[in-house]
Amino acid sequence: MEENEFILTIDNLSKFFGKNRVLNNIFLHVRKSSVMGLMGENGAGKSTMMKCLFGIYEKNSGVITLDGKQIDFTSPKQALEHGVAMVHQELNQCLERTIADNMFLGRFPTKFGVVNEAKMASECNRIFNDLGLSFNPKEIIKNLSVSERQMVEIAKAVSYDAKVIILDEPTSSLSEKEVKKLFEIIRLLKARGVSFVFISHKMDEIFEICDDITVLRDGEVTLYKPVKDTNLNEVVAAMVGRSLESRFPPLTNEPGDVILQVKNLSTKFNPKLQNISFDVRKGEIFGIYGLVGAGRSELLECLFGIRTIAEGEIIYKGKRIFFKSPKDAMRHNFALVTEERKFNGMFGVETLTYNTCITNIDQYKKFGVIVNSKMKKAAKEEIKKMHVKCTDEGDIISSLSGGNQQKVVIGKWIERNPDVFLMDEPTRGIDIMAKYQIYELMIDLAKKGKTIIMISSEMPEILGVTNRIAVMSNYHLSGIVETKKTNQEELLRLSAKYL
Ligand SMILES: Nc1ncnc2c1ncn2[C@@H]1O[C@H](COP(=O)(O)OP(=O)(O)OP(=O)(O)O)[C@@H](O)[C@H]1O
Ligand SMILES: [Mg+2]
Repeated sequence: MEENEFILTIDNLSKFFGKNRVLNNIFLHVRKSSVMGLMGENGAGKSTMMKCLFGIYEKNSGVITLDGKQIDFTSPKQALEHGVAMVHQELNQCLERTIADNMFLGRFPTKFGVVNEAKMASECNRIFNDLGLSFNPKEIIKNLSVSERQMVEIAKAVSYDAKVIILDEPTSSLSEKEVKKLFEIIRLLKARGVSFVFISHKMDEIFEICDDITVLRDGEVTLYKPVKDTNLNEVVAAMVGRSLESRFPPLTNEPGDVILQVKNLSTKFNPKLQNISFDVRKGEIFGIYGLVGAGRSELLECLFGIRTIAEGEIIYKGKRIFFKSPKDAMRHNFALVTEERKFNGMFGVETLTYNTCITNIDQYKKFGVIVNSKMKKAAKEEIKKMHVKCTDEGDIISSLSGGNQQKVVIGKWIERNPDVFLMDEPTRGIDIMAKYQIYELMIDLAKKGKTIIMISSEMPEILGVTNRIAVMSNYHLSGIVETKKTNQEELLRLSAKYL
C-alpha cells in the first residue's frame, strides 16, 4: 500500500455552540513534514477547529485521522499522548510555578514515589539546548515576558515528541528576532518530520513559513492551496469576501498644542528607564516603537501610575502630575489598553455587559443602585461600534474569539470617554478588517481632540497610523521622528542604538 501523504486529515467537521453553527463541514489536510497556515478573520473558527481536534471541544460531526488511523480525542491529555500538541492563543500557565513545573505539569517524573526534580531540570535543559533556548528551569514563570512564556510552551510541545504541533497565533507577542528564532525551530523540527498547523493574522509570516494554506470564513473553507500557488490578494479576498484596497485609513487628524510633557524621566529599579524626554500634542497619535524588552510598556506604566518614577517629571495641561495609582490616572481621564487581556484588561467569566461597564460603573447607577438596563444599552452600542462578533451582550467574554475579546477591551475604555489613551499593542491578534476598523476609530478619536500614545511592534502599523514615532532602545529613548519622513531602516537603526 502506498504510504499516506498526510499526517493529519480532518473531514466534514461541524461544530455547534447551542444553535450557533461555528464550523460547517470543513476540512484540513496536513502533509507530513509540512507547515499548514490557517487563516481567517476573528471569529472565523480557527481556534474552535483546533480545539475540536485537541479534545477540548466535542465535535458534532467529522472524521479525523492521524497518520492514517482514525482518532477522536476526548481530552488534551489523550491528544498529547498520541503526539498532537497545541500552544494556545491565551497562554494557560501557572504563573507562580517554575518553568520546569510548567513543562511537566500533569506528568511529573517520579523516583521512589517523589517528584524527581533533578530529572525535570536535566530534561528541560536538554530540550532548551536542543532548541537553542537559554532558560533556567528554576525560573518562576511570572518573571518571564509574554514572549518567553510562549517559547516555554513551544518547548513543552516539543517535549511531548509531538508529530503535529498546533501554534495558535504564536507570534502575536514576539519581536522580529524572536519570530526568526521560532521559525528556525519550526524548520529544524520540520526537517525531523514534525508537521505544524500555524495560525496567524500576519500575511508575511504565512508566506514565509507555510507550505500550504487553508482559509476559513464564517466556519467554511474558502481557500486551500500550496502557498506558492497563491498570493496576498487572493488570501485576503478569501478571508473577507472582497479585496481590501488599503490596510490603513487616511490619517486625517491634525495635532494641536502640546498637552503632555515627559521630562528627564528615570525609574528606580533595574532595568531602569534612562532620562526619557518627549512631548505629545492634543489630537496626536504618537507611536512608540522598539524591540520587545526595550522598556516601552514600562514607560506607559509610569504614565499610568503603575510604576514609580525616581527622577524627572510629567506635565499634563501645564501642570505637574503625579499619579499614585491607575485609579488616580483614570480620575484624570487617562486610559490604558493593555497587551495581555487575560491578566490586565478582561474579566473572563463575566458577560460582555460587565466587561464593557466595569471601569465606569458609577455611570450606570441611579440613587446608588446599578441599573442593568443602562449597562445593557451601553454594551449593545459598544458591540455595534466595535463590530464585535457575538450572539448578544449577555455572552461570556471568554466564549468570544481572541480578536473579538480585544475589541471589547478597547470598547470598554472608549465607553469611559478618556482624554489620553495609552495603548500597548492594541491590535495584537486582531484580523486585517478589524484592525482597519480600530485604526479608523483611533483617527476618529484623535480628530475629536483625544491624545493617543500607542506602542506597536508591527512596523507597517506604526508607520501607517501615527503622526510621530518615539523609538526606544534598551530603556533609552533613541530618537523621535516624523512618521511621514521616516522609514523602516531608520526605525530599526534607532531601535538598536543602545544594544
Ligand atoms: N466556548 C464557546 N462558546 C460559545 N461560542 C464560542 C465558544 N468558543 C468559540 N465560540 C464562537 O465560535 C466562533 C469562532 O471562534 P474562534 O475562537 O474559533 O475564532 P478564531 O478564528 O480563532 O478567531 P481569532 O482570530 O479572533 O482568534 C466565534 O463566533 C466565537 O464566539
Ligand atoms: Mg483564535
